[in-house]
Amino acid sequence: MLRDFATRDQVAVRRLILGGLRERWGNSFDSSYNSDLADIASNYLARGAEVVVVEHEDEIVATGMLLQERGVRGRIVRVSVTPAKRRHGLAKMVVLELCERGRRRGYRAIDVLTDTPWVSAVALYRSCGFEELRSDGSDTHFVLNLGGSLPTVGVRPRNVRIRPPGAQP
Ligand SMILES: CC(C)(COP(=O)(O)OP(=O)(O)OC[C@H]1O[C@@H](n2cnc3c(N)ncnc32)[C@H](O)[C@@H]1OP(=O)(O)O)[C@@H](O)C(=O)NCCC(=O)NCCS
Repeated sequence: MLRDFATRDQVAVRRLILGGLRERWGNSFDSSYNSDLADIASNYLARGAEVVVVEHEDEIVATGMLLQERGVRGRIVRVSVTPAKRRHGLAKMVVLELCERGRRRGYRAIDVLTDTPWVSAVALYRSCGFEELRSDGSDTHFVLNLGGSLPTVGVRPRNVRIRPPGAQP
């Protein structure tokens, strides 16, 4: 079930995001660079960000955030999926939901920056219709212009209920 982040998710969401980063960076990972995650409600929600989670059998298995930039643009950050639930379409569902929320807010475009060697992340944003603006050995910058229509999720994630926007829990 995809839903908004709630304060009770704080510990699980922080763990999920830090776990994904630790996988990427290995021994050089330093969680002190991610102090923003110590209080997601204050550092993100209170600043107008959208934060969503996917909950499955009482576990937070995926998350992602949409920040507002310069009033008319959004930026997706902190997308992460627990290893056991990857390649089920969860990240794509999170990204497309955040894009739809950005569209409803009137954003003109959504930006994403990811590390070029992170093949799965680069492939994820391509699969969601993002356009590659520039890329070098370290960073790949994507943009999704919200003038056109969003790609649909081809396969519904297995064993995950999606709550329609606006529906009550
Ligand atoms: C990157 C990440 C979020 C992808 O999550 P996911 O739920 O497995 O992704 P999805 O199942 O939604 O994949 C959507 C599309 O992305 C691409 N993709 C995802 N993982 C991929 C991989 N390992 N290799 C190649 N393509 C991949 C595919 O095109 C996929 O569509 P398909 O399964 O129909 O082929 C996940 O691997 C993760 O959490 N990694 C650690 C944290 C991280 O890197 N976050 C991104 C920060 S920018």
